[in-house]
Amino acid sequence: MRVLGIETSCDETAAAVVDQDGVVLSDVVHSQVAVHAPYGGVVPELASRDHLRNIGPVIAAAAERAGVALGDLDGIAVTCRPGLSGALLVGIQAADGLAFALQKPVVGVDHLVGHLLAVFLRFPAPTANPEPPPFPFIALLASGGHTALYRVDGVELSSITELGATRDDAAGEAFDKVAKHLGLGYPGGPIVDKLAKEGDPMAIDLPWPMRQKSSLEFSFSGLKTDVARWVDKHGRPGNDATLRNLCAAFQRRVVETLVAKTILAAERESAKTIVLAGGVAANRELREHAASMAQKHGLRLVVPPFRACTDNAAMIAYAGAHRLLLGQNDAGRLEMSPHTALLQVTRKGRGRRKN
Ligand code: KG4
Ligand code: ZN
Repeated sequence: MRVLGIETSCDETAAAVVDQDGVVLSDVVHSQVAVHAPYGGVVPELASRDHLRNIGPVIAAAAERAGVALGDLDGIAVTCRPGLSGALLVGIQAADGLAFALQKPVVGVDHLVGHLLAVFLRFPAPTANPEPPPFPFIALLASGGHTALYRVDGVELSSITELGATRDDAAGEAFDKVAKHLGLGYPGGPIVDKLAKEGDPMAIDLPWPMRQKSSLEFSFSGLKTDVARWVDKHGRPGNDATLRNLCAAFQRRVVETLVAKTILAAERESAKTIVLAGGVAANRELREHAASMAQKHGLRLVVPPFRACTDNAAMIAYAGAHRLLLGQNDAGRLEMSPHTALLQVTRKGRGRRKN
């Protein structure tokens, strides 16, 4: 089965062709970073318009690179939630129209499920694919819009259980906001990652966000505010050692908190394998620290290749392939929602907010 995946939930217009085993035949991602960079974050209306401009050419490129005529596809999978409403609608309309014209089935996919299953994608060389994890595994999903821990028992939505999530900012959101405050540009994660490498994480004293052992919930807005307070008090550092130390201190606190809670979740659920997912999983220190802590606790760590961590349509095609194989079809009744379909145990905004 060859499935066309379409992803337009945020600031990437993406299309990919993937088979039922996760073999990636093509993977096209058009990034909108240049559109949003001047504003220091994603502007929803600009995102929708840019998706509209690029969705056609991106789908055509995915089919061409896979060497598959659109008429020879077996089905279409499209992100229908969670995300920016106007952005999601562009992908959904394209998928629905294409499915009608080609008389093929189309299924809606939850973006978070896509991220959680991205570890099963098989990219062509030179990308190195990790050995797929056995079920059940614990997944840390940390991106710009979401940060949560899941127990994954299978590929269906009903086999995925949220164990705890952030009460306020997502980890990637904290990286982006801190970078903006330091005048570093957008998106902040990769920039802070690079600067932190040359800094001393202990040189500047910042609090540890919700490191209490018993909770699987996160909170990053306090840490973000403390970085802002530090800047208000000491002034914005120039391109010097202080900037690198501040980035290193912030990143160390985010990374250690994420990893400590992931290990705790694995122990509580008696799971032997942990998986990293989402854009923040591209962070060098997170990958290294997770590897050393997993080894220390006798756990197996599986990290998808970089291109599978950040937003892409291959993960959407793979997540949708399972529903298409079961003969399911959402044609004419694809439902868009800004919220995930996964049951959420943590309510946003419930915790003590400092700002
Ligand atoms: O998964 P993703 O591409 O999109 C969402 O679904 O949100 O994640 C994007 C997020 C951004 O906040 C970006 O700053 C962050 O992932 N990110 C990183 C790194 N690369 C991307 N954060 C920390 N370190 C990185 N190397
Ligand atoms: Zn994402």
